[in-house]
Amino acid sequence: MARITAGVASSHVPLLGVAHDQGKDKDDYFGPIFAGYDWTREWEKAEKPDVVILVYNDHASAFDMKIIPTFAIGCGERYKPADEGWGPRAVPDVIGHPDLAWHIAQSLILDEFDMTIINEMDVDHGLTVPLSMMFGDVPEWPCKVIPLAVNVVTYPPPSGNRCWALGEAIARAVASFPEDLNVQVWGTGGMSHQLQGPRAGLINREWDNDFLDGMIGDSDRLRHIPHIEYLRETGSEGIEMVMWLIMRGALGKRAAALHRHYHVPCSNTAIGHLVLRPDDGGGVD
Ligand code: DHB
Ligand code: FE
Repeated sequence: MARITAGVASSHVPLLGVAHDQGKDKDDYFGPIFAGYDWTREWEKAEKPDVVILVYNDHASAFDMKIIPTFAIGCGERYKPADEGWGPRAVPDVIGHPDLAWHIAQSLILDEFDMTIINEMDVDHGLTVPLSMMFGDVPEWPCKVIPLAVNVVTYPPPSGNRCWALGEAIARAVASFPEDLNVQVWGTGGMSHQLQGPRAGLINREWDNDFLDGMIGDSDRLRHIPHIEYLRETGSEGIEMVMWLIMRGALGKRAAALHRHYHVPCSNTAIGHLVLRPDDGGGVD
């Protein structure tokens, strides 16, 4: 049986991809940001996930105003890094897991989540930057990846409550896949940031840290945060954090934190990162 063994949350700032690709991970500005991922890179080497279900948003690379799926699942064999204006990143292609992805698509759709099925697309910084942060410089990514794209760019994005419920449905889907697979769910984006307009550069440390607190333990209070609160308190792009709730919903009632990192500044965002373990009350290893 496939098992969800952990959840990872991380901002997906494009500048970190550039910094990593230019070898600036240890300079004065980027050093403290990347240092917060050292623990996770070592942990991932020991965890060796077979598959990551990587929840992210596309930033007008694969989708644009012509088509805006609310929830889309990648069922393809392989995805190339997108050209976001300065050429595709020189990182490995992302290898999918079509059997598990199609199983999840079927389970979710029969569970009444109307997923868009994607067989071909390029993947942008929303997906490749977290892979670089968690796995570093590698000739190929050490696991299969199932992209799960969420619309948080064009109003209306899905509610936090719907995202959490989708995570719960993903957990049911994974648990009903017969092959023995070690599966992680990652939620990316955030934390507080606004990229345009008079409030560009907005950061809200207090709100972000309360959100990090809310991801841990057995409370599901975060699922009820309305869109307007994300907008007011975390800026126009802070809504990306609803994607973390898909990951959190997939972990079950309780989640224990194995690692936590928060740093300002990082490009225009507050960078946030959490590693969580589902916790059935029997203690976390
Ligand atoms: C930035 C952050 C993002 O999440 C993103 O998608 C694009 C830019 C930034 O902070 O620059
Ligand atoms: Fe983003």
